[in-house]
Amino acid sequence: MATLNPYRIDEVRKELDRVNSEARTADQLMKGITLLLNKQMLKYNWVGFYMLEPGADPPMLVLGHYQGAMTPHTRIPLNEGICGAAASSGKTVVVDDVNSDPRYLACSLETKSEIVVPVFVHGKVVGELDIDSHFSAAFTVQDRALVEYCAQLVGKRLEG
Ligand code: SME
Repeated sequence: MATLNPYRIDEVRKELDRVNSEARTADQLMKGITLLLNKQMLKYNWVGFYMLEPGADPPMLVLGHYQGAMTPHTRIPLNEGICGAAASSGKTVVVDDVNSDPRYLACSLETKSEIVVPVFVHGKVVGELDIDSHFSAAFTVQDRALVEYCAQLVGKRLEG
């Protein structure tokens, strides 16, 4: 059932604040976020960060901390995938049915929907948080707000 579960989202927000206060570095925070979301948000079947490789020309997204199945997409140029679309536009991308989106780069055959949220440092995209679900249209407005909150925590931490 694609129902919302605001209770779980509220609980997870509190847990996120705990993870954020306990993480000593941005790297630990990103790892903690992937672990928490993958464990507690039952439809978040793959959760991972892609970060822009410093100084790369052309720009390249490189896989960082993740939870879920191994993906062949460890490096993604900005003109490829949903990931490239989110990083190059600086906008959250929600895809309810990945199989009908020509930009989609397949990670797992089970994936049905995806959300990608950019991470900003001083107004510039430095990476993104990517989540795949085995359920169609898994990402509601509440999910979007939750994932954007995670990306903001990481951005603030990277700003120092
Ligand atoms: N589906 C992404 C690629 C990354 S994997 O899902 C982990 C995309 O279309 O950019």
